[in-house]
Amino acid sequence: MDVTIFGSGYVGLVTGVCLAEVGNNVLCIDIDPKKIDLLNSGGVPIYEPGLDEMIQSNREAGRLRFSTDAKAGVEHGLFQFIAVGTPPDEDGSADLQYVLAVARTIAEHMDEYRILVDKSTVPVGTADKVSDTVREVLASRGHELEFDVVSNPEFLKEGAAIDDFMRPDRIVVGTDNPRTAELLRALYAPFNRSHDRLMLMDVRSAELTKYAANAMLATKISFMNELSNIADAVGADIEKVRVGIGSDPRIGYQFIYPGCGYGGSCFPKDVRALEHTARALGYEAALLQAVEAVNFRQKEVLFSKIRDYFGGDLAGKTIAIWGLSFKPNTDDMREASSRVLMEALWDAGARVQAYDPVATEETQRLYGERADLTLAADALAALDGADALAVVTEWSQFRSPNFDAIRARLRTPVIFDGRNILDGPLARAAGLTYVSIGRATLMPA
Ligand code: UDX
Repeated sequence: MDVTIFGSGYVGLVTGVCLAEVGNNVLCIDIDPKKIDLLNSGGVPIYEPGLDEMIQSNREAGRLRFSTDAKAGVEHGLFQFIAVGTPPDEDGSADLQYVLAVARTIAEHMDEYRILVDKSTVPVGTADKVSDTVREVLASRGHELEFDVVSNPEFLKEGAAIDDFMRPDRIVVGTDNPRTAELLRALYAPFNRSHDRLMLMDVRSAELTKYAANAMLATKISFMNELSNIADAVGADIEKVRVGIGSDPRIGYQFIYPGCGYGGSCFPKDVRALEHTARALGYEAALLQAVEAVNFRQKEVLFSKIRDYFGGDLAGKTIAIWGLSFKPNTDDMREASSRVLMEALWDAGARVQAYDPVATEETQRLYGERADLTLAADALAALDGADALAVVTEWSQFRSPNFDAIRARLRTPVIFDGRNILDGPLARAAGLTYVSIGRATLMPA
């Protein structure tokens, strides 16, 4: 089938390449000529495992093309995916200007039936706004063409996006038109594994499903982070508690890992946007507000622990940080806990020596050259002359370090593990003080 994707960002590229992979003819459109040039010369503007190779093979097979020509894009695909950004406005609501701009572009150029598919995470009610926009533009052109607007939210995890798309838990399709539903069913048929993953529903329920999923996951994390602080206070070990509660299948083991807060492009933004949508309709979403507030505070927990350890004075200290991206296997630093920690350390007069397997360039882009930031070439180099080590992102390569080597390099032998990924007793056996999240039992005496 012929598919057009507007927006060659994270969601657009993954959607485009995966639809091409199963044999569709995909044209990706972006207004940024630099991005399109890069893609057309074999480059990929984002880091996502497996994406480069898949883009290359599908380009070579002629199933995947990139262009800035929006008109050609509208002519090409029966399916017109909208996968552009919805950055938060200052008040936390999602900014729909890019989504609606694509809707206008499609309406300006279409001259036969088109299905507009909302892939961007958009507030409930956006599909109606997209329909209104298309209708207005068509009317101004004196055209009365048939079209449909479908909500088809993505559930891609950064670092595992290709797999999530190719082997989805669910494919949510919101449409009120049974014929369109059948077309979407055919498009997504190759992605069903042992059973049909397609969930058909009305447009608004589909739009809300996306927010509900992310808000639920964020709630689980904030709940555990809250519990970890209580565990610290009462002298319990949150990791024991985690295993204890996860064994109940109603609770489950997933997404109950305590840490130094969640980040990324989805959870923080979506929790705020849903809370905002509710408030705009006169409903105070007290739980969502708390989820956000707990996460905000949790991002400061590592800093508090470091500051307290050094008696409240961090001026002139150097803190090594392992992990800058908001989670492993991505260079994405949006709302990353590392940023809150680094900025707090700088405000307190400390220096940072950081190492991340892939986010070094992104850190440079965000913070530029500064005297109080050194980006190390490897994990051990980040420790040289540092007063303490803070582990902020749970990259696998940090999980079993050489504690003797750490001890030899640090000026003060102390590790602050913001993700509870290190072996505390082993660290202690090597003569290090080991401070983690919610494990008072592993606190220094
Ligand atoms: C998330 C959703 O998982 C995905 O379904 C949705 O489409 C987009 O948002 P993503 O933001 O890529 O995906 O990351 P995810 O793996 O969910 O992690 C989010 C954050 O939560 C990370 O900062 C991670 O470190 C943190 N986290 C996750 C915890 O602190 N504890 C956990 O138990 C799990």
